[in-house]
Amino acid sequence: MRRMRRLRAPRIREMVAETRLSCNDLVQPIFVDERISEPRAIEAMPGQFRESLESVAAQAQALEDLGVPAVLLFGLPALKDEMGSAAYDPHGIIQKAVAAIKETTNLIVITDLCLCEYTSHGHCGLVRGEKILNDETLPILGETAVSHAQAGADIVAPSGMMDHMVQAIRTALDLDGYKDTSILSYSAKYASTFYGPFREAAESGFAWGDRKGYQMNPANFSEALWEVQLDVEEGADMVMVKPAMPYLDVVRAVKDMFAMPTAAYQVSGEYSMIAAAAKQGWLDEMSAFLESLTCIKRAGADMIITYWAKEYAKLGL
Ligand code: PBG
Repeated sequence: MRRMRRLRAPRIREMVAETRLSCNDLVQPIFVDERISEPRAIEAMPGQFRESLESVAAQAQALEDLGVPAVLLFGLPALKDEMGSAAYDPHGIIQKAVAAIKETTNLIVITDLCLCEYTSHGHCGLVRGEKILNDETLPILGETAVSHAQAGADIVAPSGMMDHMVQAIRTALDLDGYKDTSILSYSAKYASTFYGPFREAAESGFAWGDRKGYQMNPANFSEALWEVQLDVEEGADMVMVKPAMPYLDVVRAVKDMFAMPTAAYQVSGEYSMIAAAAKQGWLDEMSAFLESLTCIKRAGADMIITYWAKEYAKLGL
């Protein structure tokens, strides 16, 4: 008779493991703040910091030394305006940070491409009254993508959920000669409460309204497949599902249906829930993040964007 527990004996358990996590799967998000001169702790994300332009290259170097292959950069500009013009300033914080990291490391540099950290109203697109202007935002995203590529970004990651953003960005990059810059689209991005701590981390809270008009309804599954299909047709090189843990059914379906390089973003709230419980002594942080990352990979993610990438790498597994 088959007796399943035989395979759970020490060492055999590891030998028959169906999912193997590796440092190569992980991407570490980094926040770079133009207004600070040394790293500053993010209260809502225990253990995470905002970097300054002075500290970011050293942080990147430390990640590279530990074996983390890639970083995802978010910028906090000194000044915000209606148009989010700091997003595409060739001398903006993100453009400078990319250049600094590229100068000192061989990391894969991915840039978050969105206006919400740069607009005074905090929305991901241009606005008129309380309306988000999808099509008017597209050329700005194109221009921003070009400025990131110019600075040396390997991959741009549009996260604003504007319709046709991938096509606009691909066209702009190609026109400017950046045919080899990849696009990782935040294709199925849900309007999630789990982005809460990120609002402090990136100071990207919105002044009015919410993001439900452009981000997906958590109740929907088929819609995610449409979002991914459209992004693939528009030229996305890689696709993403975000958040990760409450959306593993979506990760699995996207991987199976499109066979694209698929990323899952374990977002700030997913991080903070575990980190906060661990701080109370209610959960073991390391076991919790190892389990969560293994399960995200088991669901089909090829890459995982996680705030634990550095901690994982430190384990030397
Ligand atoms: C910007 C953006 C957000 C996140 C990544 N890019 C916030 C949002 O859409 O509200 C969330 C990341 C996280 O919570 O870790 N559009």
